[in-house]
Amino acid sequence: MNIRETTLSARIDGKAFAADVRTHVADHVAELNSEHGITPGLAVVLVGEDPASEVYVRNKARQTRETGMTGFEHKLSAETSQADLLALLARLNADPAVHGILVQLPLPRHIDTEAVLAAIDPAKDVDGFHISNVGLLGTGQKALVPCTPLGCLMMLRDRLGSLKGLNAVVVGRSNIVGRPMAQLLLRDDCTVTVAHRHSRDLAEICRGADILVVAVGRPGMIKGDWIKPGATVIDVGINRIEAEGGKTRLVGDVDFDAAARVAGAITPVPGGVGPMTIACLLSNTLTACCRAHGLPEPDGLTA
Ligand code: GUN
Repeated sequence: MNIRETTLSARIDGKAFAADVRTHVADHVAELNSEHGITPGLAVVLVGEDPASEVYVRNKARQTRETGMTGFEHKLSAETSQADLLALLARLNADPAVHGILVQLPLPRHIDTEAVLAAIDPAKDVDGFHISNVGLLGTGQKALVPCTPLGCLMMLRDRLGSLKGLNAVVVGRSNIVGRPMAQLLLRDDCTVTVAHRHSRDLAEICRGADILVVAVGRPGMIKGDWIKPGATVIDVGINRIEAEGGKTRLVGDVDFDAAARVAGAITPVPGGVGPMTIACLLSNTLTACCRAHGLPEPDGLTA
């Protein structure tokens, strides 16, 4: 008998889950179109030529088209002034065919990221980074929610049903993942601990987690014996490390092989959280479109 088969926990298949979300979005987009003549539109703005960002933007554009939405791509040179970028955002804010706006981060250093994020209409802020959406989420109100933590929440709900009363530990406190993740878990009635680089005895904190979400960008930092038996582990890390033969490979922030022997369920890297981020961007665009037109939002795609 293969020992690995008897001891490994369930893998949470983010790739398959993301495909289901995209199908759900595409069905709803088709319905919006046939019943109301509306096509959701997503504008993606890329400043500069960061190769990783170019890949993300290309994938976003392709998946936008595949779900039947309209994609508007704005590729600007790395020398674009902040004033020109803000002028573009003002035009997109005013354009009724655009329901969602995403400015790919990081931006070149001469541009003030906070000022740019603040210039996006909160109703079109499909990244959920505008301070209004951050505040709405933090006060338990209806918001547009950052895509990566929204994807994590969807997978947790799918795996566990109700999250009420569970101990959730979020490792990492970034604005993109850790902080909004903590707010979402709190909203679902978890007892939430946010740990970070200054936390004392991180291993012991993690061992108390029924739900462990890790987003720190440090390959394999979370060890197998930090995991509570049966816990659900969501690994947000995507780290490229050197592998044999001069190649590279992607690994998460969790020591997968060791953690998988203890956890009840765990997301792999790649193929876990990653695919969910763009799927949630599409679902946020659909949500923003429905809200803009005063139409009911699709079930199961929002927090
Ligand atoms: N760069 C890395 N992740 C993200 C994201 O979720 N949104 C945007 N806009 N840029 C990113």
